[in-house]
Amino acid sequence: MNKPFELEPFETTLADKVAAVSQLLAEIARNHAPAAFANSLGAEDMVLTDLILRQGLAIEIFSLDTGRLPQETYTLMQDVQQHYGLKLRLYYPRHDLIEAYTRDHGINAFFESIELRRACCHARKVEPLARALAGKRAWITGLRAEQSATREALPRREFDEANGLEKFNPLADWSEREVWAYLRNHDVPYNALHDQHYPSIGCAPCTRAITVGEDLRAGRWWWENPDTKECGLHRIPVVVSAEVSESVADVNTQSSGRSQNEDTL
Ligand code: ADX
Ligand code: SF4
Repeated sequence: MNKPFELEPFETTLADKVAAVSQLLAEIARNHAPAAFANSLGAEDMVLTDLILRQGLAIEIFSLDTGRLPQETYTLMQDVQQHYGLKLRLYYPRHDLIEAYTRDHGINAFFESIELRRACCHARKVEPLARALAGKRAWITGLRAEQSATREALPRREFDEANGLEKFNPLADWSEREVWAYLRNHDVPYNALHDQHYPSIGCAPCTRAITVGEDLRAGRWWWENPDTKECGLHRIPVVVSAEVSESVADVNTQSSGRSQNEDTL
């Protein structure tokens, strides 16, 4: 049977994009070892997980377990470990920072102000990320330019000044449709919340479903303006306590020291 005529160019483009990303991942593994992939278990990250593991690439895969993730994300973590036989590496927040935050501000203080929300993200995500990237030469994310106004200018490769290493965003130019076509074509496991109108998934208290016509990230920190909706993993300035800020600076000092010119692709 003939395929509908518009499918062919779409599938050709997708095949080209998959080939380009596979090649980029292989080059990162070869020329930037040790490299790590930050896996939030969102749809984009499942594409990268599948491509890395299919090729058996020497790229560490880790997730930041903030302690506030939805149950569906933990279920998927378990499924992914079984499906691929992957030993997913999990990084946790420092207990002293969480104990200080909840003692001083309360368990759900992130709803009270942008500063307290960013301070929570800093303790639960940014500080553990700095530890996860310590000693690495490159890291990989599932960011896409189309996801939000804050990500429109996203490059495929950049130098991450904050953490002192190369950063690759292999899916920068992918559309949401391409992500889902890949997942379906390859039977890749995905987060059950995606089928309940959650295109973007973070921590449970800070993520809700979206409705028709809403932006893909409208359900993330939905009480804030679109231009503040970043958690600090991706270079948006944050306001935090001196205690948390120093802890990140310490990890960065121990881990970096590489020159961005050392590496070539
Ligand atoms: S966030 O910064 O607002 O949380 P988003 O959920 O869109 O970002 O994810 C963008 C990318 O950041 C993911 O593709 C992944 O590479 C990384 N990331 C986000 N959250 C996590 C997490 N909990 N663990 C590992 N990586 C993460
Ligand atoms: Fe804290 Fe919410 Fe940020 Fe998770 S997303 S780290 S709960 S503020």
